[in-house]
Amino acid sequence: MAVQVAPETEVLRKEVQDRYTEVATKPDQTFHFHHGRPMAEILGYTMDQVDAMPPQAVESFAGVGNPFSVGSIQPGETVLDIGSGAGFDCFIAGEAVGPAGKVIGVDMTEAMLDKARDTAQQMGLDQVEFRHGLAEELPVPDGSVDVVISNGVINLCPDKYKAFEEVFRTLKPGGRLYLADIVVHKPVPDAAKANVDLWTA
Ligand SMILES: C[S@@+](CC[C@H](N)C(=O)[O-])C[C@H]1O[C@@H](n2cnc3c(N)ncnc32)[C@H](O)[C@@H]1O
Repeated sequence: MAVQVAPETEVLRKEVQDRYTEVATKPDQTFHFHHGRPMAEILGYTMDQVDAMPPQAVESFAGVGNPFSVGSIQPGETVLDIGSGAGFDCFIAGEAVGPAGKVIGVDMTEAMLDKARDTAQQMGLDQVEFRHGLAEELPVPDGSVDVVISNGVINLCPDKYKAFEEVFRTLKPGGRLYLADIVVHKPVPDAAKANVDLWTA
């Protein structure tokens, strides 16, 4: 069943898609957030992890934390990455689950999906698959995932409650959520909520 969204939600999604299409296709550009290899270093990913990937997997990384600092991933597990971008965390998870496991990256931005699929093929990671979809309507069956990871995405979702409902729908009983995101401790002023640059950053 299609999710009904208010027009402002559609406008916001389009702005987010436009911004992250640029991150995918013009990663050398300056953005008002850190990205790429320097950000991966700041966030504590090991250089062994980063160097195991081709540059195109790293240059469009736009995470805000390191979901793997929350817990480990075991061989054979199924991992879902919500808002997988150019696939950086999916490739780390893909190495961890191994050929007997599965990693599903979901993203709504075609340019990110194209780049991620190309890199997965280059890396020979057949267990890593990318699907087009929304965090609020995941193209993943109920109770099918051992670990949900997400990095810098829920803050971009207009309907955060629905995004979390989807996390719990897709997790198996006893499944884990390794979440890296932005949290505010004070009410966000209306002027800031209306500023699309702040939404998409
Ligand atoms: C800040 S980037 C992070 C990408 C990736 N997790 C990483 O660490 O590099 C946000 C990504 O989430 C995607 N995204 C944002 N809102 C989304 C939504 N509601 N549903 C699916 N994807 C979304 C964007 O297209 C973009 O690729």
